[in-house]
Amino acid sequence: MTTAAPRAEPKTVFIKTFGCQMNVYDSERMHEALSAQGYVETSELSDADLVLLNTCHIREKAAEKLYSDLGRIRDVKAEREVAGKETMVAVAGCVAQAEGVEIVRRAPVVDLVIGPQSYHRLPELVTRRTAGTAPVVETSFPEDDKFAHLPARTGPRAATAFLTVQEGCDKFCTFCVVPYTRGAEFSRPVASLEAEARRLVSLGVREITLLGQNVNAYHGEGPDGEAWTLARLIDRIADIEGLERMRYTTSHPRDMSDDLIAVHRDQPKLMPYLHLPFQAGSDRILAAMNRKHTRRDYFRLADSIRRARPDIALSTDIIVGFPGETEADFEATLDVVRQVGFAQAYSFKYSPRPGTPAANMEQLPEMVKADRLNRLQGLLNQQQSSFNSGCIGKIFPVLFERIGRRAGQLIGRSPYLQAVHADAAPELLGHIMPVEIAAAGPNSLSGVIKAA
Ligand code: 5AD
Ligand code: SF4
Repeated sequence: MTTAAPRAEPKTVFIKTFGCQMNVYDSERMHEALSAQGYVETSELSDADLVLLNTCHIREKAAEKLYSDLGRIRDVKAEREVAGKETMVAVAGCVAQAEGVEIVRRAPVVDLVIGPQSYHRLPELVTRRTAGTAPVVETSFPEDDKFAHLPARTGPRAATAFLTVQEGCDKFCTFCVVPYTRGAEFSRPVASLEAEARRLVSLGVREITLLGQNVNAYHGEGPDGEAWTLARLIDRIADIEGLERMRYTTSHPRDMSDDLIAVHRDQPKLMPYLHLPFQAGSDRILAAMNRKHTRRDYFRLADSIRRARPDIALSTDIIVGFPGETEADFEATLDVVRQVGFAQAYSFKYSPRPGTPAANMEQLPEMVKADRLNRLQGLLNQQQSSFNSGCIGKIFPVLFERIGRRAGQLIGRSPYLQAVHADAAPELLGHIMPVEIAAAGPNSLSGVIKAA
């Protein structure tokens, strides 16, 4: 009789994602690549054989979070060592790309540093680190397309999914690290995106959000060998049967072409919601930011988008306290907000990023920045609340995505990305139902399902 070899415990990975949706997508792909190697995900740091931090470098605070987390992880690693367990710590994402070997110097607990262009090599680099002694740092921009080497999609287990169609940025706004951390603009070919989208839909996905740092600069190779625009890509993917909704983010005003605006009019699967950062309201600051658009350009764009799709809602990103911003410049920002009106917005104090042109300009005092942010957010919150309360009495198609905290309740999303709570049977997860909105809070809605 043969005795069965003791079954090896599967290796576990703890993944923490910071920053933008592109990182969420990347973490999912890395998770899938590790699953193919037998890793299972854990939500307990102390259980993890591999700790993977997918980091963000966009503002100083975001980058600092990494180092505070690494302090805690060092303690956990030490405790596990006492129990005879090894822990590998990997840092991915934009801090990895920007700081590279510096991370290992500052935080010797780190075993592996991997830039966003090398995620397809993650399993191999983990193996290399296990075999060797020195930490592994991989932050090159390889020639080959990582997407072509990542395993086919096995997740996600949800009704909505992100799909990165474009990475990098050639715009070089003077405040932004993205052109340095994510590199030059690169668009994935249409065929590979269509295949991935089909696979996602076959796994139960009903809504796909196309992602890119500069998504509307998309110019990937089409099946005809020509460069396709984002507008053509949206229509192509919208044709997939079973896919109900599409979105895309983040766009730059400069690349908001007429054919893309027309898709908002003509493509019913495209949700009436657009994230279009304007960053600042004064032309002087926009020029100093190298934004390549004026406030007038932005007004015109908002107008033509609303003409194409009258029920569209806009969201935006705004920076206050950019070097040289006067009170009058800031007033111009408030004025754009008042004139355009936003359903939602992200606003930030300018944060100097090493290596970017604006970091060398004369900085405004912290107090001035904080005060302006406060005033701006007061206005934005007011607009968001009035947008939300304006939804009361409307019937929205809601895509139910997850179980609510209260028994018998599901949470879904309206076309405007608002979270909507409603009493609903769990079988309705992944389905779109008409919901009459009965109440609105600052950040979510609730309502009642209407018989279809
Ligand atoms: N400081 C503050 N905000 C920034 N953003 C990008 N870089 C900086 C910076 N250095 C904001 C922009 C961008 C969003 C993702 O982050 O508004 O659109
Ligand atoms: Fe950064 Fe500007 Fe590129 Fe957006 S367009 S990623 S803000 S450089």
